[in-house]
Amino acid sequence: MQEPVLQVKTLKTSFRTKNRETTIVDGIDFEIGPNEVVALVGESGCGKSMTSLSIMQLLPRAGEVSGGEIRFRGRNLLELTKKEMAQIRGRRISMIFQEPMTSLNPVLTIGLQMTEAIVRHLNADKTKANEIADEWLRRVGFPEPSRIRRSFPHQLSGGMRQRVMLAMAMSCKPDLLIADEPTTALDVTIQAQVLDLMRELLKETGMSVLFITHDLGVVAEMANRVIVMYAGQIVESADVRTLFTSPLHPYTKGLLQSTPRMKGAIEKLVPIPGSVPPAGTKLPGCRFADRCPIATPECREKPPELRQIGSGHTVRCIKA
Ligand SMILES: Nc1ncnc2c1ncn2[C@@H]1O[C@H](COP(=O)(O)OP(=O)(O)OP(=O)(O)O)[C@@H](O)[C@H]1O
Ligand SMILES: [Mg+2]
Repeated sequence: MQEPVLQVKTLKTSFRTKNRETTIVDGIDFEIGPNEVVALVGESGCGKSMTSLSIMQLLPRAGEVSGGEIRFRGRNLLELTKKEMAQIRGRRISMIFQEPMTSLNPVLTIGLQMTEAIVRHLNADKTKANEIADEWLRRVGFPEPSRIRRSFPHQLSGGMRQRVMLAMAMSCKPDLLIADEPTTALDVTIQAQVLDLMRELLKETGMSVLFITHDLGVVAEMANRVIVMYAGQIVESADVRTLFTSPLHPYTKGLLQSTPRMKGAIEKLVPIPGSVPPAGTKLPGCRFADRCPIATPECREKPPELRQIGSGHTVRCIKA
């Protein structure tokens, strides 16, 4: 196997308040290989965004990585200086967020925001940077890129802003793209268009992707491999086909049963009862036991280990 682009090893991320530390991401391990699209899935609050913000070192103030390693092309990002990290962010690793209004500056034109990064990271002059920006804007479906460059974020629709973010993220040709729910805020038709576009660009550029979503339908369309997270831990991971055809963890099965398989198909969707335990809840056994249809008293005794089942298939469940 080729050397992975990203290796996350026993990553722990916590939030500190006055007298308490709450562990949000609790010792997760995964790798992303060259050209690989890895999906990170799980219900709201399970730690997906905190994982991606840990990698980017963009955690909110009270948050910190409290353990583990994040190796990008072999270098541990946690050991870099702020300046070194700033050179990697945007240039080698870029990120797209769910709501582009939070990452676009409302008072600057799209053009200024796009070219600022291109000038800084690619050492391009202003004219060259405008050319590169136009080329990417055209590729994400804007036939008149110079008009878009002159626009302010609020003058564009949600779908247009998300395509601008994609153009921005791609313009420095990063090795790794982190997309955190990039299409969740869009309506279904626009979502499909943006996903098609992303897939095309990824095939063309060969970049690696960490694709975060709670929508398994999107996973099936986009990813090679899937990591399922629950309450800050990985509970199952497998290649996309295996995960959809032979899921092992009751939580993964639950997620699949609560996802419509075909657009418009009439089928029975079964939601998972209950909800994710609040971050920091201390449980002696399996964190999913209270919602699990097959849990026995044994499951509540000690925390289950993540076990290797087949090649590339791991599961954290003693019953699987
Ligand atoms: N600033 C903060 N201070 C303390 N806890 C936080 C903070 N931000 C998030 N959390 C907690 O971290 C946990 C994980 O949040 P995270 O945003 O990673 O979830 P997520 O999986 O991305 O969910 P979603 O699908 O809703 O985006 C949640 O329990 C949340 O309450
Ligand atoms: Mg999130």
